[in-house]
Amino acid sequence: MAATDLERFSQNEEKRNLSLGGHVGFDSLPDQLVSKSVTQGFSFNILCVGETGIGKSTLMNTLFNTTFETEEASHYESAVRLRPRTYDLQESNVHLKLTIVDAVGFGDQINKDESYRPIVEYIDTQFENYLQEELKIRRSLFNYHDTRIHVCLYFITPTGHSLKSLDLVTMKKLDSKVNIIPIIAKADTISKSELHKFKIKIMSELVSNGVQIYQFPTDDEAVAEINSVMNAHLPFAVIGSTEEVKVGNKLVRARQYPWGVVQVENESHCDFVKLREMLIRVNMEDLREQTHTRHYELYRRCKLEEMGFKDTDPDSQPFSLQETYETKRKEFLGELQRKEEEMRQMFVNKVKETEAELKEKERELHEKFEHLKRIHQEEKRKVEEKRRELEEEMNAFNRRKVAVETLQSQSLQATSQQALKKDKDKKNFFSLPSAYSITTGRYVN
Ligand code: GTP
Ligand code: MG
Repeated sequence: MAATDLERFSQNEEKRNLSLGGHVGFDSLPDQLVSKSVTQGFSFNILCVGETGIGKSTLMNTLFNTTFETEEASHYESAVRLRPRTYDLQESNVHLKLTIVDAVGFGDQINKDESYRPIVEYIDTQFENYLQEELKIRRSLFNYHDTRIHVCLYFITPTGHSLKSLDLVTMKKLDSKVNIIPIIAKADTISKSELHKFKIKIMSELVSNGVQIYQFPTDDEAVAEINSVMNAHLPFAVIGSTEEVKVGNKLVRARQYPWGVVQVENESHCDFVKLREMLIRVNMEDLREQTHTRHYELYRRCKLEEMGFKDTDPDSQPFSLQETYETKRKEFLGELQRKEEEMRQMFVNKVKETEAELKEKERELHEKFEHLKRIHQEEKRKVEEKRRELEEEMNAFNRRKVAVETLQSQSLQATSQQALKKDKDKKNFFSLPSAYSITTGRYVN
């Protein structure tokens, strides 16, 4: 058949219902699908967001009736950190790869403005990883470990008042990226009437702030009724405990207090059973599907548009991948050239600036040198003057010294002559005998 005939045939194609003469076997397709999925196994990823010590780990242990490895977070984390842990679980012949991601340190910082950012980044990174796998030429999505977050359990502190601004901001930032199920944690610490008012308050605050939380789907008849009833119970008020207490003659999971026992699975005590029912037994597949068809789709669309891909061009013609690639390549090369030119210009300007700076510095140094030279000459002149003055002083001093010495020697001469004369006079005056001799009877000189 020629190509044009084929086109005409497919355009005029009509659908006709035929009845089968006997059993063919394609009614086993759903079973084949189930069997394939079971062999492949499932993955489910839960993100727990709530302040430190709110009961996240306890609730996870209670939900999956096991003990996951956990360590207490400190209250001193400088920023929120995402900690994923993956576990292989098996129930009957179904394998589940469960990842629990804890937002460690959430609400512990003094400045909480950026608390939502690491969470958003983590979610986007998982989407990006999936997109990269999808865009590969050799894709292996069949055995790819899908780490995209399927549900975010948002733990609300049971204050009985209202939501904190941190809760509203974080939920608002996350609602287009993940299915959010808000839950009131440690619901045993709040009275029944307070809890009722608290639930109403939370829901009205979420609505007035435009926060979209996950709604259990009501389009599938099989679960429409239960889901619509459960939607009215949101946010679920839950209690977690891994402790077993004897009630009557049965061991049940509960929290024991001096005044009584709070049973986790007792629907008149809390909404734990409702949460487990909705999260695991009824809507797990819908959460996975919503993640893929709504949240991931949105991320993928924005990302591909950012990369320049479109479904149709301005003339509503299908967009060619080759053309997109060429346009992007041209854009990229143009941008590269522009950047190169910009950098070159910047370099030239920088060199000019540096040159001018150096010249200015040289001029300053020269001026400084001249100034110092002048000062030096001035100093030299002063020293020279001082030396001359000192020399004159020294000459004058020497002259005075000579005169004094002459005077001194003259006066010395005069004094010694006078003394000599006085001596003579004295001798004449005192020329008497100095001893009397008995023998001679005379004075002897
Ligand atoms: P980090 O991982 O350190 O942030 O803490 P967490 O949110 O995982 O809390 P965790 O489950 O470790 O529980 C902290 C404390 O709260 C423990 O002493 C639990 O026994 C207690 N706790 C957990 N769930 C409940 C609850 O439903 N009610 C009450 N009253 N206490 C609870
Ligand atoms: Mg924990």
